[in-house]
Amino acid sequence: MANIRFLAACANDPKFTPDQLIPAIAKKHPLSWSDKLLYRYAIIPETQKKLIGLGMGFAWTNSRPNPGPGRIPSFNPVKFLNFGLPLDDTIDNVDDPPIWNLRKHKGFDYHWDGLETNLTETSIMGALAAGTPPDNVPLKDLQRVEDFILSVTPPDYPFEVNEVLVSQGKPLFDNNCASCHAFGGDRTGTDIPVEEVGTDDHRIEMWTQAAVDKYLEVGDGQEWDFTHVQKQNGYIAVALDGIWLRSPYLHNGSVPYLTDLLEIPEKRTKVFYRGYDVYNSEKVGFISEGTSAETEGFKYDTSLDGNSNQGHLYGTELSTEEKQALVEYLKTL
Ligand code: HEC
Repeated sequence: MANIRFLAACANDPKFTPDQLIPAIAKKHPLSWSDKLLYRYAIIPETQKKLIGLGMGFAWTNSRPNPGPGRIPSFNPVKFLNFGLPLDDTIDNVDDPPIWNLRKHKGFDYHWDGLETNLTETSIMGALAAGTPPDNVPLKDLQRVEDFILSVTPPDYPFEVNEVLVSQGKPLFDNNCASCHAFGGDRTGTDIPVEEVGTDDHRIEMWTQAAVDKYLEVGDGQEWDFTHVQKQNGYIAVALDGIWLRSPYLHNGSVPYLTDLLEIPEKRTKVFYRGYDVYNSEKVGFISEGTSAETEGFKYDTSLDGNSNQGHLYGTELSTEEKQALVEYLKTL
């Protein structure tokens, strides 16, 4: 998103002219006389027009917080640009969810709010959102990707774990978390109403019945079709396989560490830097504070709309020792 804003700002800059750009390009790549004419009268004006158009198409993002690396605006680009639905003020910034181990996730709803229940349709949806024309969806290639993500497993936790704590943590997980997060749990893979889980609701507001209706039409007359798209009003209780690697946590990536998630929201980190890839094995998550994280990372402010770290109070009432044991167990999932 920041990249699109940057390119549009370049194209709107008064210095974006053939007189400025051709000598700059020629410094890196020698240009013949005919190349220069082509750049002056076709390539530069056409690029400028396209970039300005791109910027206008995404102008609605200017009023919303930047997603930053590792997060995307999930469905608003499709709603506004592909489907021509009227602009609204919803915010759809989310983390990319992990897509490993999907054979074990079969039967679970997909996307953070479970807007799809069929894996093939979910991958076609991704292809369309990335710009694939509806009449040119590479179904066989998508099938290969699907086969891969069905079987690829998350990497094991790479550091040593304390086995005593792990065995103390397992019953705590079974009693407090398993119903929603263990494979086979009663509510695992299902939608938990947002009023119940209490996390930021912008992502739920974004996905509308009008968007569902458009998706249900878009495959008409194609080799493929969408028949499993739906509107739900909560977030999926995801299985926690490979959870050690999935920081920052929650659909909007608003909680940097597992230890933070087990604190009440008032005590969770308010501003942090995401995108730095060095690990903190005590707090369990990528280091999100300090000079290196600030230099490498993207500043995440939980007070911005769509960025709230509220809700998900499960486990916050456990004792310090119990939390430590639970976190040790979570490393092994
Ligand atoms: C009633 C169901 C429920 C229970 C019980 C529950 N959770 Fe959750 N959990 C959820 C939902 C729903 C989400 C997704 C919320 C969101 O992303 O906004 C979630 C998200 C998470 C995530 C983030 C996943 C990710 O990929 O970022 C972690 C970690 C987590 N829960 C751990 C726990 C732990 C540990 C416990 C037990 C102490 C627990 N949960 C108990 C429903 C539950």
